[in-house]
Amino acid sequence: MKADDVLVISNASKVFTMRRRSLKRVSMTAVDDVSLTVRRAETVGLVGESGSGKSTLGRAILRLLDLDGGRILFEGREIQGLNERVFRPLRAKIQMVFQNPVTSFNPTMTIGQTLVDAMRLSRHRTLKQKEQRALALLDQMELDERFATLYPYEMSGGQLQRVALARALAPEPHFIFLDEPTAALDMSIRGQIINLLLDLQRQSSLSFIFVSHDLRVIRYIADRIYVMYLGQVVETGTKHAVFESPHHPYTRALLAATLIGQGGRDEVRRAEMLTGEVTQRAHDFAGCKLYGRCRYATERCAREPQVLRAVAQDHWARCWRAEELARSGWLVKGSAANEEPLSGFRQVAV
Ligand SMILES: Nc1ncnc2c1ncn2[C@@H]1O[C@H](COP(=O)(O)OP(=O)(O)OP(=O)(O)O)[C@@H](O)[C@H]1O
Ligand code: SF4
Ligand SMILES: [Mg+2]
Repeated sequence: MKADDVLVISNASKVFTMRRRSLKRVSMTAVDDVSLTVRRAETVGLVGESGSGKSTLGRAILRLLDLDGGRILFEGREIQGLNERVFRPLRAKIQMVFQNPVTSFNPTMTIGQTLVDAMRLSRHRTLKQKEQRALALLDQMELDERFATLYPYEMSGGQLQRVALARALAPEPHFIFLDEPTAALDMSIRGQIINLLLDLQRQSSLSFIFVSHDLRVIRYIADRIYVMYLGQVVETGTKHAVFESPHHPYTRALLAATLIGQGGRDEVRRAEMLTGEVTQRAHDFAGCKLYGRCRYATERCAREPQVLRAVAQDHWARCWRAEELARSGWLVKGSAANEEPLSGFRQVAV
């Protein structure tokens, strides 16, 4: 663990076992040997199709579920297995904005009470100061102070998403797991909220894991990126490495999908897309999880397990063909970098 590491996840795994209607037990590995690090004042972008294990990883960090294997160190302390009493002081420092904010609110509390309650461990503040901070946070989220008296059911999904951000910021955390935090926001406010998060990060050295299906948002906000597929990290590296020189066929497919219709050679991008649906593999299948959907697959991919390997400095991919694919060039050189930023975003160099 390095001095500026806030969160270090090592070899995390989580298996869910469910009973089918036939009463047969089926198990699936939602998080499969994931190792991930977040440094102080850093934003890690987490991307991957639905079901790739992003939210499950977030819930494990928040101690909302126990891992079946692996370790999670937060500011140097192992948090797996800590009992509630010992974990409680850390809880304020580790926050999450849930993917579906509507269900994460207590329907019997007003928004103001919810925000004050989020500061219950902030003993250095009086109730009056907490109420003032609650109003200030609403204001930062472009919500009028009258919202403090409303109940969650009286607000729209986008407004609740902003309250969820305010609630996560309220106890002055060191780390926030942001699970699709801008998905319910109008485009007009999305850039503004993201810039606010970046400003807060600079002011108080906050660290984020930012989950988004929108790679344009990830490209804007993240310092480093982890790409997940069926519970595994298939590629990770700096934003520049992953966007400008994607080595894994899955990353290439995700990027190609976002670039279609952006001008340039769409037929090259379409060829890069995956075929078929995400499907779990049988337990005795040892090969690459992308086998069957990958245009570059060979017979070797079906029998050989793939490991995350260094493919360049600060850049890893889980595919034995990674270097060869990267040498064959990216879809359209520089296209990921030249893409227009979202409206309301400040221009950043990638
Ligand atoms: N409590 C649970 N019981 C059983 N299976 C679960 C549970 N929670 C998640 N899963 C399964 O684990 C896998 C990973 O789910 P997860 O919600 O972490 O994916 P995700 O990457 O967040 O997807 P999305 O982009 O749709 O939010 C999925 O197949 C999901 O059905
Ligand atoms: S190992 Fe084979 S199937 Fe897997 S991503 Fe690489 S080329 Fe595709
Ligand atoms: Mg999710």
